[in-house]
Amino acid sequence: MAVTDLSIRLRPVADEDDLDMFRRFCVEPGLIGLDWRGFQDVQRVAKRFAEDGFLGERDGRLVVDAGGKRVGFVSYTEGVYAGRGPYFEIGIALLPEFRGRGIGWRAQAMLCEYLFTHSPVQRIQAGTHAENVVEQRSLVKAGFQLEGVVRACEFRDGAWRDGHLFSRLRTDPAPPL
Ligand SMILES: CC(C)(COP(=O)(O)OP(=O)(O)OC[C@H]1O[C@@H](n2cnc3c(N)ncnc32)[C@H](O)[C@@H]1OP(=O)(O)O)[C@@H](O)C(=O)NCCC(=O)NCCS
Repeated sequence: MAVTDLSIRLRPVADEDDLDMFRRFCVEPGLIGLDWRGFQDVQRVAKRFAEDGFLGERDGRLVVDAGGKRVGFVSYTEGVYAGRGPYFEIGIALLPEFRGRGIGWRAQAMLCEYLFTHSPVQRIQAGTHAENVVEQRSLVKAGFQLEGVVRACEFRDGAWRDGHLFSRLRTDPAPPL
């Protein structure tokens, strides 16, 4: 499937099949990639859907749809710097069979457009792992810049590890999709 054949869009979580995809990420070791943190409670998925459809103002998820197929999800979580600097931190996970086709960077660029359009936030950030070169490239293609290395910021896979912090500001140029 060439990327030019795909129409990529973000959409709200809609049905039980979407929830099943989220449940898979909770219990299939490594499906989510380096962010695997052990088994997660699958019951939280339905609870959250019932609560607000994963469309919270402070955090939420959207399904990534490519060519009419459910291929993964993007997420956003609000944070605040120094009490007055709200920002969103975004995340993404695609199902393995849909990786490496140009979907990931486009979905993250689309999420930025969505958040900049529907909230006044000035800054969107994304953290990734030192060894996640694909996500680093994907973020740069989505208009992000590397800000630096955050030392020993996450406990993952048995050790404290550094993270790479990227950001895109409202005033940064948006990449052509
Ligand atoms: C990280 C992820 C979102 C990237 O999305 P993707 O659709 O696979 O990547 P894209 O096709 O958009 O490619 C983005 C860039 O990475 C490159 N790339 C893609 N797959 C690659 C691979 N296996 N090896 C090297 N480079 C690769 C692409 O060529 C492109 O760069 P280029 O245009 O300079 O060549 C996706 O792979 C994924 O969901 N991985 C598992 C979860 C994860 O790691 N999430 C991020 C956690 S911080």
